[in-house]
Amino acid sequence: MKNFDELTEYLEKLAMAGLVSVSVVHELKSPLSIISICNEQILTSLEKGDNISAIKFSKKIEKALAEILSIINSTKSLLQGDSNQIVGVLVNELIDETINNCKIKIENQNIKYSLEVPDNLMAIECNATQIKQVLINLIFNSIDAISALEEKWIKIKVYQNEVETIFTVIDSGSISNADSIKMFEPMYTTKGEAGTGIGLWLCKKIIEGHSGQIKCTLIDNHTAMEFSIKLT
Ligand SMILES: Nc1ncnc2c1ncn2[C@@H]1O[C@H](COP(=O)(O)OP(=O)(O)O)[C@@H](O)[C@H]1O
Ligand SMILES: [Mg+2]
Repeated sequence: MKNFDELTEYLEKLAMAGLVSVSVVHELKSPLSIISICNEQILTSLEKGDNISAIKFSKKIEKALAEILSIINSTKSLLQGDSNQIVGVLVNELIDETINNCKIKIENQNIKYSLEVPDNLMAIECNATQIKQVLINLIFNSIDAISALEEKWIKIKVYQNEVETIFTVIDSGSISNADSIKMFEPMYTTKGEAGTGIGLWLCKKIIEGHSGQIKCTLIDNHTAMEFSIKLT
């Protein structure tokens, strides 16, 4: 360790690794419990000679394993230096893949979603896995925020000007000024046991790592999470 700056950088990386592991452990719980439940169901089905059900549960295990793999891959991408993973990414493809990841959760909760994404957007230089992770985190937070509301919708907007691409996730909920500032602090959560308070802190780190900015604002009194990424 040569100097104070290097030590600070090292400690920051260590803290980040610690917080990322808390979040990963939390995320792994859900697919692991699915695997455990389905495994029991397979055994019961096989005892009854019900092969069709056994296959159905085995397919669920396959999906949960794919989810675990994707959690591990995005963690690796977060913890490794990202500069080698910055590539030209088509924004429309990025949005499509994100929506595919979130669709089931959105539809299960009877949430209406709409996209305002022009189809002629220019490619952006970014780490696609990380930016997708940010969008998924924002969408999942919106789902949590509006699940108990009568009016449930999420809007995803993308806008491009000469210098940057601006992504906005707006939901039918609202938020106080104080919450919209605190929400980016590590371990700040209002979800008790169900939350880690690490999602938005990570989003901020990822966006800042892309020399961009992320903020929470209100649009027509609805919560709007907005981040920008420079075009080059
Ligand atoms: N779309 C939103 N609407 C209202 N509150 C939100 C929204 N997104 C985040 N928050 C608030 O910010 C907190 C921190 O979010 P996050 O860092 O993702 O952690 P977690 O989701 O584990 O609580 C949430 O607990 C919630 O109080
Ligand atoms: Mg979250």
